[in-house]
Amino acid sequence: MSSTAVIILAAGQGTRMKSDLPKVLHAVNGVAMIDQVLAVARGLRPACTVVVVGHQGERVRNHLAGADDLTFVDQTPQLGTGDAVRRCLPALAGFDGTVVVLSGDVPLIQAGELARLAAHHHERRAVATLFTAVVDTPGGLGRIVRDDAGHFQRIVEAKDAQPHELAIHEINAGIYCFHADLLRRCLPDVTRDNAQGEFYLPDVVAMAVAERAVVEALPYAEPAEALGVNSRLDLAHASAHARRRVNEALMASGVTLVDPATTYVEGGVEVGRDTVLHPGVCLRGATRIGAGCEIGPYSSYADAVVGDGVRDRGYSHVEGCTIAAAVLIGPYSRLRPGAEIATGAHIGNFVEVKKSRIGAGSKVNHLSYIGDTEMGAGVNVGAGTITCNYDGANKHKTVIGDDVFIGSDTQLVAPVTVGDGALIGAGTTVTQDVPAEALTLTRAPQENRPGAGKKYLDRARAIAAEKKQRAKEEKK
Ligand code: UD1
Ligand code: CA
Repeated sequence: MSSTAVIILAAGQGTRMKSDLPKVLHAVNGVAMIDQVLAVARGLRPACTVVVVGHQGERVRNHLAGADDLTFVDQTPQLGTGDAVRRCLPALAGFDGTVVVLSGDVPLIQAGELARLAAHHHERRAVATLFTAVVDTPGGLGRIVRDDAGHFQRIVEAKDAQPHELAIHEINAGIYCFHADLLRRCLPDVTRDNAQGEFYLPDVVAMAVAERAVVEALPYAEPAEALGVNSRLDLAHASAHARRRVNEALMASGVTLVDPATTYVEGGVEVGRDTVLHPGVCLRGATRIGAGCEIGPYSSYADAVVGDGVRDRGYSHVEGCTIAAAVLIGPYSRLRPGAEIATGAHIGNFVEVKKSRIGAGSKVNHLSYIGDTEMGAGVNVGAGTITCNYDGANKHKTVIGDDVFIGSDTQLVAPVTVGDGALIGAGTTVTQDVPAEALTLTRAPQENRPGAGKKYLDRARAIAAEKKQRAKEEKK
């Protein structure tokens, strides 16, 4: 059994976020803070992971409902970080290894750094080891007080600090390794005798120092990653940092970002080698883009799976779709949830596809709406074609076979089926099934009246001129 247990503190309200959403559920570059912290915690392969929830605890629990490796501890009311950890002790009864305490609102920490903290803790046989960071604006964070020789002494919260302590730039990151026994011995003695009237977890560290036990304060390699998120501004900074990290990893793996500063790829998105992402591209959620693709400017993909060699000319909006290899998209395509585009198909400008399968090599190039449709391979859909899938109450299906040719400005009034190889003339309103290989037309016969056009126009222009003349005279 692993000798590491993890506690994640996530009960606080996060007042400064001014939000109805619990703070730890706010996303940093697309991933909820608690999920990022949890992923890092799992890197330690802990024997158990305890999550302290309180403020809107149900919502946090529901968010994590899929995970079966977590123990939840409720902390109501929230009396401080020391109280939060104390409440976890029953869940850790009998455990005498290392307790790693993480803050749910410090989302950028890296698994490698956390492993380094734990290794340092063990090497030095410390009872407590914590991460610090030297930052330009320490603001409301706890300051690290060291003695003249540079040895760690204690953490002083900003609200309790003297002016000379506030001037310290080394802060407590809120990430700790403790010997389980230290927590059991010291937490009951922590008091609320401080500016915030809270039980401070950092007091345990000061108690260990007073016992002359080994306490280590280790500076985090990249200070920006050790900073917590307490406000929307912090959230934006953390997101920007996470985004940069994702972009750098993509480039390192062989993806071209024409302009990394304006490329938005959320954590968890995958992009294949030799794919080019143009400025303004936004890739979100569970999106996976294949190799050798080109995603044009300002296209946005969410939860989309895209094959190799796909070319999107830009400004497209793609959500919840599957796009096979060598598909051509855009500019200005809208692919909505349930769109499945098979190999080599073309979806062109101002084309909307919803909950439909477009077969291999089929082309829907201009100004069309295709909804609730099964379309075969090799179909050519003319400009302005619309599947009329909704009758005001229900959605109906359109089925189009292979190698069908649909003329421009056709309406397919669903439910309707078009057989393989059929030809539908431009401007047709299809209301009945079309047999395979048939030619279908619904068209009022055209009438040509010689000279009637000119006669009509001459009269209309004469009336207009007369009106203008009269208006002029009335003005005089
Ligand atoms: C805390 C530290 C501070 C450190 C900073 C780093 C204390 C007293 N101070 O301050 O030294 O510099 O983190 O980010 O620990 N929480 C609970 N229950 C509570 C209170 C808080 O679970 O009763 C959770 C919060 O949800 C949050 C974390 O603990 O995830 C930190 O709490 P927060 O109130 O943000 O502490 P800080 O003021 O940031
Ligand atoms: Ca905090």
